[in-house]
Amino acid sequence: MASNSMLFFVLVFWASLAVIHASEQKSQMGLGPFRGLSYRDRMDMMKSIKATSFAVSPSPSPSGPSPATSSNPRVYHVTAYGADPTGQTDSTDAILRAISDAFRAPDKRQLINGIPDLGGAEVHLDGGGYKISRPLRLPASGGGNLQIHSGSLHASDDFPTDRHLIELWPASAPKLESTAQEEEENTPIGSLLESFSSSYEFITLKDLLLDSNYRGGGVSVINSLRTNIDNCYITHFTTDGILVQGGHETYIRNSFLGQHITAGGDPDEKNFSGTAINLRGNDNAITDVVIFSAAIGVLIAGQANILTGVHCYNKATGWGGTGIYIQLPGQTLTRIVNCYLDYTGIVAEDPVQLLISNSFFLGNAYVVLKSINGKINGLSIVDNSFSGGGNVVDIVQLDQSKGPFTTIDQVIVDRNHVQGMRLKSTVAKCSIQGNQSIWTADFSPVLLFPNRISYVEYTLQVTGSFPSHALRNVSGNRIVIESDRSVPATVYISVDQNM
Ligand SMILES: *[C@@H]1O[C@H](CO)[C@@H](O)[C@H](O)[C@H]1NC(C)=O
Ligand SMILES: *[C@@H]1O[C@H](CO)[C@@H](O)[C@H](O)[C@H]1NC(C)=O
Ligand SMILES: *[C@@H]1O[C@H](CO)[C@@H](O)[C@H](O)[C@H]1NC(C)=O
Repeated sequence: MASNSMLFFVLVFWASLAVIHASEQKSQMGLGPFRGLSYRDRMDMMKSIKATSFAVSPSPSPSGPSPATSSNPRVYHVTAYGADPTGQTDSTDAILRAISDAFRAPDKRQLINGIPDLGGAEVHLDGGGYKISRPLRLPASGGGNLQIHSGSLHASDDFPTDRHLIELWPASAPKLESTAQEEEENTPIGSLLESFSSSYEFITLKDLLLDSNYRGGGVSVINSLRTNIDNCYITHFTTDGILVQGGHETYIRNSFLGQHITAGGDPDEKNFSGTAINLRGNDNAITDVVIFSAAIGVLIAGQANILTGVHCYNKATGWGGTGIYIQLPGQTLTRIVNCYLDYTGIVAEDPVQLLISNSFFLGNAYVVLKSINGKINGLSIVDNSFSGGGNVVDIVQLDQSKGPFTTIDQVIVDRNHVQGMRLKSTVAKCSIQGNQSIWTADFSPVLLFPNRISYVEYTLQVTGSFPSHALRNVSGNRIVIESDRSVPATVYISVDQNM
């Protein structure tokens, strides 16, 4: 039975080569997978096809539609290159050959200067799961307008632990700054821009499961422009699920990332390590992404990034995890909106122009403002919901272990709902009723910064005679108002830590 089908397949195979050959005469578009291969390569390919794909597919055309005969001539099916969709044998070389063919530009068109337009070429994984032993590093010749999609990649047991399954890594780019080097000095943003030299633009990685097999990371995007990572499931990474370094506009959306495949409450949660998304570049977006295990959910060391709809339950704060960690002290420029921080919080170093709003913090998750050089300028934490238990955890906390915040300007922490946690705010109000001459309001439990009231308003409401009264003291976040005699009155006080 098998040999009959094999004979049929071989006939189809050679017939399709003939068609390719014929169509090449007519059209420059016939850049199929077989073009340019030596006789020996073809025979190797035949052998690996025999060895693998035939057994798994009852279809008479297991290699997928031949590029030249299909209606889209720029779809490169990795199975047609001998990749093994069952994951039994190593498919690295086969997939790299498919990628290499897809990177042959059909014409002289370019995207941004120097980047060949690959015309919408697709590297199609044919719904298979492939074992790879080396990174799929995109060709150094560069290119754009290409997709890699629809299948799974699994790192082999000897995959290099300092690399990623798929790498957009131009030859000109410096070494990777993975999580392992995270304690290094931050690269100033100017130098990130200066070193910019891109080889890839508008590359789309879509509908992929990437399994790093606890050896290295999932995807690296270095100095690239306008990259899409869409509907991917990235797991078993030890460094970064996705590393974005330099470049701009990497859009990561509708994806799931986790070091371990788990659904919360994992007994081994304290051992989670790695970073799901390491953003070391500018102008990126993470949209509708779930991070279900990793020590750090999203590490941000670039500017003008936006996170929306990101759900982090990667590693609880109680186990030492962080949902979103914002480095780049003094140059933050980050927006976090509509996110869900689930038992794990946000840490921001010297935040400058940081917005955290419309987000939901569950399970005592909170925000830490960490002083590096003592500067906070332009921070809004507004319109969030915080939910916890026990009323012992502050929703926003200061980490001044490296020194106090000394420059504080335009900081608004306000309009957050809080249940089972302690409210912290930069504005506060109260009313005091009594028959007395001294009214004292202690705002220190609620105000975020110690001993800092920049603005006070008060009103003294009396029904009887008119006393003389004045604001007497604002130090220590306490307000003292005094009248010249005891009067039954209500005093309304409002304070603000900003001017
Ligand atoms: C977690 O890590 C600790 C210390 O490294 C180790 O002893 C323990 O076996 C790990 N737990 C699991 C379930 O692997
Ligand atoms: C308010 O206190 C003063 C002095 O203690 C007292 O003389 C006065 O009767 C009190 N007024 C009222 C309405 O309780
Ligand atoms: C204001 O109150 C603080 C204690 O809260 C006190 O040390 C200080 O002397 C007071 N200042 C004045 C002018 O009364």
